Amino acid sequence: MKSKKVSVNLQNEAHEYDIEIGHDLLDASGEWARKCLALKTSKVALVSNVKVFPLYGAAVKNSFEKQGYEVSVYLMKDGEKHKNFRTLESILKFFSEQKLTRTDAVVALGGGVVGDLAGFAAAIFLRGIAFLQIPTTLLAMIDSSVGGKTGVNSDFGKNLLGAFHQPNGVLIDVATLKTLARRELTAGFCEAVKQGAICDANLFDQTAEFLKYFPPHKLNKYFSNEKFISSLEDLIQAQITFKAQIVMQDEKENVERIDEKSRKILNFGHTLAHALEKVTDYKRFKHGEAVGYGILFAAELSKTLDILDENKLNLLNDVMRRVGELPDTQNISLEKVFEAFAFDKKTIGKSLQWILLEDIGKPKIVGGKDVSSAIVYETLKKVLRDNLN
Ligand code: NAD
Ligand code: GLY
Repeated sequence: MKSKKVSVNLQNEAHEYDIEIGHDLLDASGEWARKCLALKTSKVALVSNVKVFPLYGAAVKNSFEKQGYEVSVYLMKDGEKHKNFRTLESILKFFSEQKLTRTDAVVALGGGVVGDLAGFAAAIFLRGIAFLQIPTTLLAMIDSSVGGKTGVNSDFGKNLLGAFHQPNGVLIDVATLKTLARRELTAGFCEAVKQGAICDANLFDQTAEFLKYFPPHKLNKYFSNEKFISSLEDLIQAQITFKAQIVMQDEKENVERIDEKSRKILNFGHTLAHALEKVTDYKRFKHGEAVGYGILFAAELSKTLDILDENKLNLLNDVMRRVGELPDTQNISLEKVFEAFAFDKKTIGKSLQWILLEDIGKPKIVGGKDVSSAIVYETLKKVLRDNLN
């Protein structure tokens, strides 16, 4: 299997796994699984959804079966609204009916919704069984499949219930992105710009250049172009390398840390994103699209607080324009968004922590008490009413 590799080494847990990146890898996914899983593993529960499995399920299932695995398939309905307790319970029941044991494994084939749910199910079934990820959206490839965060949404809010459960391996086949819808690509690129903005000028520029040459709305036309495939693999590898470094330094997102290497910095843009998703009942935005607004907002707030230079704000806004159109925000209640900030996971004690930006590659965690409500409100108004598109 010809692939690029990023290794994740979690010293605290003595756990190490590889993320392999390439194209047309699914037919060899069974051989890859053999390298990642224990010799004793005999059964594999393949968790996917009704949209992804018809596209890529057979290739994965056949390849695993060729390696002698007994494969059972659980297909969930498609969409964020199914990332809930009911689906989780149904998956766990399925594992139990299939008589999975502690030496068996779960494989997630799909986007972040499938990965988060299957990962959470693997984390709690028999107090934790092996888990492999085969992410098929850009967002899942560069973000959700890396780092072991798993979970479900609930009435309390998004992703507030979950567990850290690191995978035993991640296989990224960039060819699967060919069938991904334009909005999903835009959503993934929003997360890519986010990671570039908080990592360094190299990753930021690489992401910006990629978006300049290969605009998301035309992406599916380029898949026969070798230079494109190679640039896409390189970008995904660079993005993952950054995320993996952060995860290795602060796997469980230590609540005390406020330095620029804290895992909290990955939440740049997420305070507004989660609020927007909540007030629109998770229906209007793709997660990454909401992050897009979150980036614009966090950068604008950083500029208003004199933390970020105007040129850098403009640079970030220019690159954000390349990701494609974001949903309209004109009729979203600013008051409701403001109220929703109170449910943010980054609230420590009673104070929200803002992830702001001093420069490209220089995130800064600022306590909520240091940012007045009036400034937050005015910035919100500017960003949500003065839409980019
Ligand atoms: P998603 O899983 O809903 O996938 C988006 C859509 O694309 C779905 O309709 C899906 O069926 C479809 N799809 C997936 N792969 C496809 C393909 N190759 N071709 C055609 N269609 C395909 O959404 P997502 O953006 O991948 O993930 C969002 C979720 O990830 C959210 O729930 C978010 O909270 C979570 N997330 C988790 C982490 C983490 O660290 N665990 C990080 C970021 C986001
Ligand atoms: N997506 C944020 C994190 O993995 O920490």
